[in-house]
Amino acid sequence: MSHSIIILAAGEGKRMRSARPKVLAELAGRPLLAHVIATARALAPERIVVVVHGQGGHLIRADFPDSDLTWAEQVERLGTADAVHAALPELPGDGSVLVLYGDVPLLQAGILAPLLESADRDELAVLTARLDDPFGYGRIVRDEAGKVQRIVEERDATDAERSIREINTGVIAAPMDKLSQWIPRIRNDNAQGEYYLTDTMALAVDDGVMVRTVEAGDPASTAGVNNRIQLAEAERELRKRRAASLMEAGVTLVDPERTDVRGHIECGHDVHIEPNCVFEGHVVLGNGVRVDTGVLIRDAWVGDGAHLRAYSVIEHAKIGAEAVVGPYARLRPGTELGEASHVGNFVELKNTHLGHGSKANHLAYLGDAEIGQHVNVGAGVITCNYDGANKHKTVIGDDAFIGSDCPLVAPLTIGEGATIGAGSTVTANVPPGKLVLARSRQTTIEDWERPRKTRSDPDKQ
Ligand code: UD1
Ligand code: CA
Repeated sequence: MSHSIIILAAGEGKRMRSARPKVLAELAGRPLLAHVIATARALAPERIVVVVHGQGGHLIRADFPDSDLTWAEQVERLGTADAVHAALPELPGDGSVLVLYGDVPLLQAGILAPLLESADRDELAVLTARLDDPFGYGRIVRDEAGKVQRIVEERDATDAERSIREINTGVIAAPMDKLSQWIPRIRNDNAQGEYYLTDTMALAVDDGVMVRTVEAGDPASTAGVNNRIQLAEAERELRKRRAASLMEAGVTLVDPERTDVRGHIECGHDVHIEPNCVFEGHVVLGNGVRVDTGVLIRDAWVGDGAHLRAYSVIEHAKIGAEAVVGPYARLRPGTELGEASHVGNFVELKNTHLGHGSKANHLAYLGDAEIGQHVNVGAGVITCNYDGANKHKTVIGDDAFIGSDCPLVAPLTIGEGATIGAGSTVTANVPPGKLVLARSRQTTIEDWERPRKTRSDPDKQ
C-alpha cells in the first residue's frame, strides 16, 4: 500500500531560546530536520510533506531546496493536530500516513516500518519508549487489561499518570482516511489550549479502531530535542553510535566519547585515532593512518600510512601515502601532498601540489604553487601569490632547495636543482642548478665604535 510522511516543523521551539527555528539547530553539523528527512527518505514514501510556520518557515525552506519535499504552511501554531491538519490537503486521500516530528532526530527507518504495516491493516500505531525519566513527554494511559486508552501530556497529567514511564515518542502511523476524520474532531480543552495530535488515540478507541504500540528497544533514539541540554544529549548519542560503528569496522578510537564524526568516514584497516578529532563531510583514511589529537578534517582523502599530527586543520585536501602533516599544519582547499612528503608546524598550503618526498617543515605559506619532488622548502618561505588584484602561480622544479626566509614573488619559476640562499627576495625566474642570492652582502665596519652615554643627559640621572 502507498504511504506518505508528514514532518512537523512549525513549532516555535521556545525552550531553545533562539532567534532561529528549532529544527535548524545543528546536530552533528546538520540541521535537526535534515536527520529526520533522511530517515523519511529511507522509507521511500510517495510524498514527504513538511509543515512549517511563518518567517521561520521561509528560513527552513531556503535550507532545503530539494524537489522531493512538499511544504505546508500552518497559519497559526495551534498544536500538533492543527499542524497535521495543515498537511492534509497536500496528501493523497488513501494509503497510510506516518507522522514524524522535526525535533526527534535520531530515529532510524527500521523501527518505523512496523508502524506503517500496522496502519496498512487499518490500525492506529504509535511508537513508544520506556524512560527512567519520562518528564516532559506524553504518557501512554492503559486500562486494567493493558489496552491503550489515550495519551496524556505532562501538563495535563495527574500525579499518578506522571509516574507512568511508558511515553509517546510523537511518531504515529494511521490509515489516511481515518486520520483525516479524526483531526477535525480534536478539541483544545487542555492545559496548553492546543490541539493535540495525541488525542487521536482516544478517538480511535471510541471508534473501535485497534491502537497498537510499537516500543523502541533503544529509547535514546526516540529522544526529542526541546532545549540545548537535550541537543547536547542527542549529539552525544549520535557520537556514540558513529564511534561504535567505526570501532566495529576495526578502527582504534582511543576515546570514543571524544571522537566526533559529523559526516561520512571510510577507514582502511588499523587506523588509529587519538582523542578530540573532528571529521566532517566525506573523509577517507587509508590503511594504517594515524591521526593525533585535536585534528580537524573536512572532506579529505588520506593515503596509507600517513600521519596527521596534533592540531592540524585539513580541508578539501588529498594527502599521499606515508606523508606526515603537522603538528599545527593548515591544509586549505586544493592541497595535494605527494607520497612521503612532510608539512610541519605552522605551514599553510592552499591550492598547492607538493611533490613526492618534498618537505616544508616549519613556518611557511605555499599558495597556488606546483612544487616538484624532493624539494626542500625552508622556514619562513612565502609564495607571494597575490598582487592585490590577481593570484599568480609559483612553479618549483624537482630537487630545488629554498633557503629560509625567502619571499617568492609570483608569477615565478624556479628550475630543477636550483638553490636559493636564505633571506632572498626572489622576483625573477631562477635557472636550473644554479645558486641564486637576492640580498645585500654582509659587510663589517672595522673602525666602528658603539656610542657612549654622555654625563649631561638629564633624563638618565
Ligand atoms: C510532543 C507530544 C508528546 C510527546 C513528545 C515527544 C503532542 C501534543 N505532544 O510534545 O506526547 O511525548 O512530542 O517528543 O503532540 N509543532 C508544529 N506545530 C505546532 C506545534 C508543534 O509543527 O503548532 C511541531 C514542532 O515543531 C515539533 C513537534 O510538532 O517538531 C512537537 O511539538 P512540541 O511542542 O515539541 O511538542 P512536545 O511538547 O515535545
Ligand atoms: Ca518536542
